[in-house]
Amino acid sequence: MSQLAGKVAIITGAGSGMAKASSILFAREGASVVAADLNEEAVKETVATIVAAGGKAIAVKSDISDEESVKALVETTVTTYGKIDILFCIAGFPEAARPITEIPLSEGQKIFNINVLGTWLCCKYAYPELKKTGNGVILTIGSGAALRPRGGTALYSASKGAIVTMTRALANEFAPEVRVNCIMPGGTDTPMMKQFIPGFNDEIKAKVAASYPLQKFVQPEDIANMGLFLAADTGSKMTGAEYMVDSGLSIARGKE
Ligand SMILES: NC(=O)c1ccc[n+]([C@@H]2O[C@H](COP(=O)([O-])OP(=O)(O)OC[C@H]3O[C@@H](n4cnc5c(N)ncnc54)[C@H](O)[C@@H]3O)[C@@H](O)[C@H]2O)c1
Repeated sequence: MSQLAGKVAIITGAGSGMAKASSILFAREGASVVAADLNEEAVKETVATIVAAGGKAIAVKSDISDEESVKALVETTVTTYGKIDILFCIAGFPEAARPITEIPLSEGQKIFNINVLGTWLCCKYAYPELKKTGNGVILTIGSGAALRPRGGTALYSASKGAIVTMTRALANEFAPEVRVNCIMPGGTDTPMMKQFIPGFNDEIKAKVAASYPLQKFVQPEDIANMGLFLAADTGSKMTGAEYMVDSGLSIARGKE
């Protein structure tokens, strides 16, 4: 049975990686998907894939760090589909590990504007609509980096730590009508890996994967599956928590 039949889901970052996989899965499970991304061409491709498979979706060009753009995203969703049941905040901005002395303040401001304030803006403007349904769902994306930060990524790691804390605070504020949970990916096989690790290739991927207890690289579909579990009735008693999908990275000390 379709687990999201009749639901309307906004998914940010839907032009690529985890959010693209989640958009495709959520649509396959019966949701009407509002696929949002800064990259208009990419998000149109995601929607074309969904529609070609018989699903329902629209593409919206959106910058989650821009308040007017987020307001417009919420308005377009309500105008098109009449409500919002699910907000999956996936869009984010990475940081290549390097010494703090080489990192300009402007990079930190961009990371926090997108990862922290962008997620917060989406929650702020979608919340009144999610509340109306009496059974709304917000999913955020943290990172293994929030718990075990690598040197040289203080800003990105801290931005993901902020998302964890924000998730818990919003879960308190929005209960009982809206559940709020955070998915914590480990290294995941998406285009973003090249930005985290310049020169990332299959050889490096195999080496990194071998250091994880499960010896497998996380795939974007793994994150989509966890998102589906939390968004559907299967997650109906879950709020205010983090869920690792990381091939065991969080317990890997000594194996790296
Ligand atoms: N890939 C990993 O190893 C990994 C690990 C942990 C957490 N994460 C987090 O997972 C999330 C998804 O990353 P991914 O790996 O799928 O990356 P990705 O690069 O494949 O996709 C990110 C998407 O976000 C979009 N985006 C960026 N800034 C935006 C903005 N301001 N407004 C709207 N869209 C914007 C990009 O255009 C892109 O399509 C991010 O929050 C990332 O920080 C990634």
